[in-house]
Amino acid sequence: MGSLLVDDIGELVTNVAGTGDGSPLGLRRDAAVLIEDGRVAWVGPARYAPAADRRIDAQGGAVLPGFVDSHAHLVFAGDRAAEFAARMAGEPYTGGGIRTTVGATRAATDGQLRDTVRRLVGEAMRQGTTTIETKSGYGLTVADEARSLRIAAEVTGETTFLGAHVVPAEYAGRPDDYVGLVCGPMLAAAAPYARWVDVFCEQGAFDADHARAILTVGQAAGLGVRLHANQLGPGPGVRLGVELGAASVDHCTHLSDADVDALAGSPTVATLLPGAEFSTRSPYPDARRLLDAGVTVALATDCNPGSSYTSSMPFCVALAVREMRMTPAEAVWAATAGGARALRRDDVGVLRSGARADLIVLDAPSHLHLAYRPGVPLIRQVLHNGVPQCRS
Ligand code: NIG
Ligand code: FE
Repeated sequence: MGSLLVDDIGELVTNVAGTGDGSPLGLRRDAAVLIEDGRVAWVGPARYAPAADRRIDAQGGAVLPGFVDSHAHLVFAGDRAAEFAARMAGEPYTGGGIRTTVGATRAATDGQLRDTVRRLVGEAMRQGTTTIETKSGYGLTVADEARSLRIAAEVTGETTFLGAHVVPAEYAGRPDDYVGLVCGPMLAAAAPYARWVDVFCEQGAFDADHARAILTVGQAAGLGVRLHANQLGPGPGVRLGVELGAASVDHCTHLSDADVDALAGSPTVATLLPGAEFSTRSPYPDARRLLDAGVTVALATDCNPGSSYTSSMPFCVALAVREMRMTPAEAVWAATAGGARALRRDDVGVLRSGARADLIVLDAPSHLHLAYRPGVPLIRQVLHNGVPQCRS
């Protein structure tokens, strides 16, 4: 493969503290990055850069770690554009449309599901995402959850078993029976393809007792815990996640002071998904309150056909800055290092020696432009494992 030097960098975002830039981004000017064997081998002043076999000239553009999208639902069939149109005409979002996607997903072939996952991963990559998590949750039978995760595992190691997304129609009125299925045969079939277990803990989906039962058996099967919590209203999800040592509680739109305090005193990340509030025309989560309390915040897309059909991390960064009062630096950190924390990863979301060589070159001189120029395709180049990806 040989070595590769990225230089003529306008601004390097390392996410390594201590460069004295006063932001969480560890900004460096006049820096260069050496890549060897898919890893960052050296970061330092360009004038001291070691010789390399090949060179990428960033032409004064900013270079950042690739985005870490720690929350997506990519294994599905069909879309729900009509539901979106109805919402924009005043209908509320309830999550009830999940069952529509379950029907379409069950009816799809493996090849159709695989094509959708690969299309969305490619779409995300062209927008700078180099690590992506994806969940099951639109199969809701033993066989359909297992195949969703098997297909997801072909493209990412960050796979999450979400058999407890909603109670499917055939179990209507029998949620205990469905939770028994999820905890027993469904988990057994899904676990070989999953790293994480997740529950939609919300009124109309699963209550705290059900969530606790599923997450606990998932943990016992060796899966890490993450949780959809407090999206549509207040509830016990966030505190349950903290109690169980979840890597992340996701959505966090409706939080009490006790929820914020619990998060602040814990290693659990609060993952905010502004694409969902955008797409459901709902109030955004209060990122400022969480950040000011010392909570670690991540940003992710929640890419799914119902509540947030975007694969764009730059869009989420722009929303977080404009609508959630995050500074551009906080938002870029949350979309890179924050996502890595939410996945308990230390090899991505950061540019330092030894990290995976996942980086993006912007068609702009600084990270500020990601929010300052919303909707503009600023990702000029993406390197994944040190390999330049095809340009869009
Ligand atoms: O994270 N809230 C639960 N699950 C998804 C939405 C799924 C859907 O509407 O299809 C979410 O927003
Ligand atoms: Fe989600």
